[in-house]
Amino acid sequence: MTSNANQYTWAGRFSEPVSDLVKRYTASVDFDQRMWRQDIRGSLAHARMLARQGIIAAADLADIERGMTIVTEEIESGKFEWSLDLEDVHLNIEKRLTALVGDAGKRLHTGRSRNDQVATDIRLYLRDAIDDILALIKDFRSALVNLAEKEAATPMPGFTHLQVAQPVTFGHHMLAYFEMFGRDAERYADCRKRVARLPLGAAALAGTTYPIDRAFVAEQLGFEGVCENSLDAVSDRDFAIEFTAACSLLMMHISRLSEELVMWMSPRVGFIQIADRFCTGSSIMPQKKNPDVPELARGKTGRVYGQLMSLLTLMKSQPLAYNKDNQEDKEPLFDAVDTVTDTLRIFADMAGGITVRADNMKAALTQGFATATDLADYLVKKGLPFRDAHEAVGHAVKAAEAKGVDLPQLTLDELKAFCPQVEADVFAVLTVEGSLASRNHVGGTAPEQVRAAIVRARQRLG
Ligand code: ARG
Repeated sequence: MTSNANQYTWAGRFSEPVSDLVKRYTASVDFDQRMWRQDIRGSLAHARMLARQGIIAAADLADIERGMTIVTEEIESGKFEWSLDLEDVHLNIEKRLTALVGDAGKRLHTGRSRNDQVATDIRLYLRDAIDDILALIKDFRSALVNLAEKEAATPMPGFTHLQVAQPVTFGHHMLAYFEMFGRDAERYADCRKRVARLPLGAAALAGTTYPIDRAFVAEQLGFEGVCENSLDAVSDRDFAIEFTAACSLLMMHISRLSEELVMWMSPRVGFIQIADRFCTGSSIMPQKKNPDVPELARGKTGRVYGQLMSLLTLMKSQPLAYNKDNQEDKEPLFDAVDTVTDTLRIFADMAGGITVRADNMKAALTQGFATATDLADYLVKKGLPFRDAHEAVGHAVKAAEAKGVDLPQLTLDELKAFCPQVEADVFAVLTVEGSLASRNHVGGTAPEQVRAAIVRARQRLG
């Protein structure tokens, strides 16, 4: 970072430079330089429009294009000298351009303000980030489907209140997450429509006196249209809040999966193994293999919620139009992008490295009277009202518990004592396989249905 006290673009109006502390406090170049590609892309689209409208000469445009090619190379190769005196990414690039090509560089900012420039950069950056995230969600969801397919018929206990409730298949459980992350993808895609609108042309806040063509710039940048109102265009960051809200919901889903992975990996539960490359050991306990990745993901969820709260609070009560508060939008936003992108990348890989311990899941299924509802349904089919059946089975469960056995281990006579309608065919519904197979409808856990859901899931992934 170089320092040149008299470099300020606005030096003409000022009689003394800011202190070093104020300079550091007000600058954003340390963190907004990551938008340099978007800044150059936006500037080139703006310059092409200026030339097309006869606001700058064709020769100026040629100089600007040539200069920006050099700037791009300098930044890419790490030769570019970012200066704190030049406050942000916009002024750093513009100053360097001017040093390279002279007056044409000074003409670039005609009809533009950093207010509409920065809003454009963020939108371009976010649109790219959304496209990356959508591709990553797709990878992750296809890993979940692959795992679901492998374990489409593998019984595991389904839980409510963290107590064994009814048998489900592991594949069915994975497809539940496939649905959640599908809704996350929809949210990002919907948010993208509002992100991809062009603020340029709003200038500082009121528009500009030059005969600009905003639609042309929007088209150049692949935006879906222009922001209709100049005051709104430079001031609102609702699209960033919306994006971070989508990130928060996605991380909430990640945290639920993480929690289950951690629990399932505990030797006390032993439902799954995660590939070693996602675990770490302990510096003191040689036997440990800790599920660090899911635990960290669970922790990072709070961090993304925090970024959402930062942005909501940043925007709260801000009067129109642009206020410098908005410079604080970038770090939370970038952190949310980084956290979600890294998390999805790791989870897509990790899902492929999950191995299931079917024996342990089967054993767990014998410990919570998982087929009690099946027995009640059986009695209903024999003519009992559901509430009476529920009560009869409650007594049967109590007896089985006292005897220290699961329901299928009760004898026919013992079962008959609770309900005379019980016959020998009852044992078919008391098995885990019978219980699973009988939930045979769209959305149910019967292996046949899970396989059909997998086919549909693959079609939806495209
Ligand atoms: N660095 C500023 C930001 O991130 C750019 C816009 C500055 N505009 C201004 N009028 N100070 O928001």
